[in-house]
Amino acid sequence: MRFGSQITWLLVAGGALTSAQSSSSSAASSSSTGCALTSSDTNVLRYTYALSGFLNSFYASTAINSTVASQVSNSTSASKVLSNLQGIQHLDNLTVEAVRELSSKAPGFSAPSCSYTFPTVSNISAFVQYAYQFEYTLSGAFIGVAGYTKSPEVAFLLARLAAEHSAHATYIGSRLNSTMFQSSSSSLVSAYNPAQVLASGNSTGSLGSYLGGCVSAPSNPCGALKIGPLEANITSSAGASSSTPLGGSSSTPMSSSASSSSSASARLH
Ligand SMILES: *[C@@H]1O[C@H](CO)[C@@H](O)[C@H](O)[C@H]1NC(C)=O
Ligand SMILES: *[C@@H]1O[C@H](CO)[C@@H](O)[C@H](O)[C@H]1NC(C)=O
Ligand SMILES: *[C@@H]1O[C@H](CO)[C@@H](O)[C@H](O)[C@H]1NC(C)=O
Ligand SMILES: *[C@@H]1O[C@H](CO)[C@@H](O)[C@H](O)[C@H]1NC(C)=O
Ligand SMILES: *[C@@H]1O[C@H](CO)[C@@H](O)[C@H](O)[C@H]1NC(C)=O
Ligand SMILES: *[C@@H]1O[C@H](CO)[C@@H](O)[C@H](O)[C@H]1NC(C)=O
Ligand SMILES: *[C@@H]1O[C@H](CO)[C@@H](O)[C@H](O)[C@H]1NC(C)=O
Repeated sequence: MRFGSQITWLLVAGGALTSAQSSSSSAASSSSTGCALTSSDTNVLRYTYALSGFLNSFYASTAINSTVASQVSNSTSASKVLSNLQGIQHLDNLTVEAVRELSSKAPGFSAPSCSYTFPTVSNISAFVQYAYQFEYTLSGAFIGVAGYTKSPEVAFLLARLAAEHSAHATYIGSRLNSTMFQSSSSSLVSAYNPAQVLASGNSTGSLGSYLGGCVSAPSNPCGALKIGPLEANITSSAGASSSTPLGGSSSTPMSSSASSSSSASARLH
């Protein structure tokens, strides 16, 4: 509760900073090297902010207590599950705060106003299933959008967020008793471009049905990013002055890496 009110305060403070000093101070510190955040990064961060806020709100909508934990585990490991789930919620709060802090350096940033829709969760099995799906989707979404920035600070944040969510997904997924790592896999962890993430539908990799259209896909300042099973390539170059296919939303291929662990079975022991 205390932490919650602190978050609210930071939101207000962050908003004030955006318009007051921070854009000029960040410009002073790094624009001469061409590495300062640009208006393109502002859109990347608005997108990131909306996704982080969604997962945070999803967790906040369900109380995790010992009763819940015991249903995801046997009695000997219930306390560990409880502390891990609470730790994951806390860390996801920190991801929101990290996005908020960097956003204060983005020119003209304003937090998107999102009215999220949550899936109906009638039991703990469904809750854990969705938590896994959303953590995995955010991991892939942040890997994907890391290909949409020229700023080291934005790339750094997105790498960190992707690793955090991937770790959460792996832990939660292991509670579902899915096979998390397959020796036959030919792909690294999934990556999703913004168009796929914002598409409607409730499959892993898409959150459009839950976000209420509060953000649009950021456009790529370098061209279209084609995501493969191992790496991603810029497939067309859009010069700084050109406004032609920026590959943001519709022209980017909808492909992601073959998601080998698409959906875990909801088997809870
Ligand atoms: C745990 O939370 C559930 C709802 O999420 C609630 O029904 C239950 O009473 C709670 N148990 C305890 C011991 O607080
Ligand atoms: C509970 O789970 C742990 C690990 O998940 C396992 O080592 C232990 O044997 C299980 N205990 C029971 C009673 O099933
Ligand atoms: C996370 O933040 C929300 C407010 O956004 C707060 O209600 C909740 O208690 C926090 N949870 C943890 C585990 O820090
Ligand atoms: C949990 O709820 C889902 C639908 O939300 C349902 O399909 C599933 O059978 C339920 N599982 C249990 C154990 O009740
Ligand atoms: C996981 O699921 C498999 C297949 O259903 C089963 O054989 C195995 O015992 C389960 N493992 C655990 C730890 O529950
Ligand atoms: C996913 O969406 C389809 C079609 O809208 C719906 O029939 C299905 O119940 C949904 N599944 C879940 C788990 O929400
Ligand atoms: C990226 O380019 C390399 C070298 O040309 C090629 O081998 C690879 O298949 C390309 N990957 C994608 C996802 O286009």
